[in-house]
Amino acid sequence: MELIERPRRLRRSQTMRDLVAETDLRARDLVQPLFVVPGQGVRRPIAALPGQEHLSPDEAAREAEKIYRAGVPAILLFGIPPEKDALGSWAARLDAPVQDATRRIKQAVPELLVIADTCLCEYTDHGHCGVLRPDGMVDNDETLPLLAAAAVSQAEAGADVIAPSDMMDGRVAALREGLDAAGFTQTAILSYAVKYRSAFYGPFREAAGSAPQHGDRSGYQMDYRNGREALREASLDVSEGADMLLVKPGMPYMDVLSSVARSVGVPVGAYQVSVEYAMLEAAAERGWLDRDQVVQESLIGLKRAGARFIVTYYAHEWARRALAR
Ligand code: PBG
Repeated sequence: MELIERPRRLRRSQTMRDLVAETDLRARDLVQPLFVVPGQGVRRPIAALPGQEHLSPDEAAREAEKIYRAGVPAILLFGIPPEKDALGSWAARLDAPVQDATRRIKQAVPELLVIADTCLCEYTDHGHCGVLRPDGMVDNDETLPLLAAAAVSQAEAGADVIAPSDMMDGRVAALREGLDAAGFTQTAILSYAVKYRSAFYGPFREAAGSAPQHGDRSGYQMDYRNGREALREASLDVSEGADMLLVKPGMPYMDVLSSVARSVGVPVGAYQVSVEYAMLEAAAERGWLDRDQVVQESLIGLKRAGARFIVTYYAHEWARRALAR
């Protein structure tokens, strides 16, 4: 028989291409972040994240219902407290915006998974993810009990999943212990196990008012020159009790995502962070790209690289569009 290259039939029809596609994207793969602020009836556009809004707890509950109806199974809550202090005290208050919103959301849409971001940077006046020693460095071990207290109050408010994003050493074990001791043995932990010190978080820090007032986060976030280090961080967090992991940022770290997803036995998600969103939005505004197609390709790319789920500011919008198709 003569061996000749010919066009493959697989590529000919859309139906055939769909049948053999290795990756697909569904609304149920997506997690929508929401920023909760104090007050009532508040819906304020976030300048740095066009299309995203600051929502008071009542509005967050309203939004959560729409998100769930569009087919998105989970939201990730960030909170902006009424006041900040050196210890980030509002992080652990039951009347804080995130806890209040969680209670209302679980009442309005019990099936929607509420993931609470657990970190101090939105709650401290200095903007660091932990408490500071007199020399200005973050005190890892002094921070752990504060994070545990925040997680317990989030669980008490009804959060299904606690997502520590602070990057302190030993925090997953500390949170697991704290949650179990308080009776929240069923509350899951989604660890931002692999979080790089990145310039890709700019708009988020504006949205959350969490930019560090001095220095940067290189004392506790990962050095982006290191890829294999991610495997160590990931397996440590799994051994401490993490039920799921996140790799963050997304697109510039797809190699890391791919190797972590292969190396651990728990589900791994990707976070398409604020600069990734801002870049696409800015270029789309200038007409430099086809927004819907680029969004689709960027999300499929993260899934292809190994993400079981994706935290993305496009979640709600993507799901609504998918419903309309
Ligand atoms: C920290 C946190 C950050 C993001 C999520 N959680 C910012 C940081 O580490 O400075 C960034 C998310 C984004 O850029 O979209 N609590």
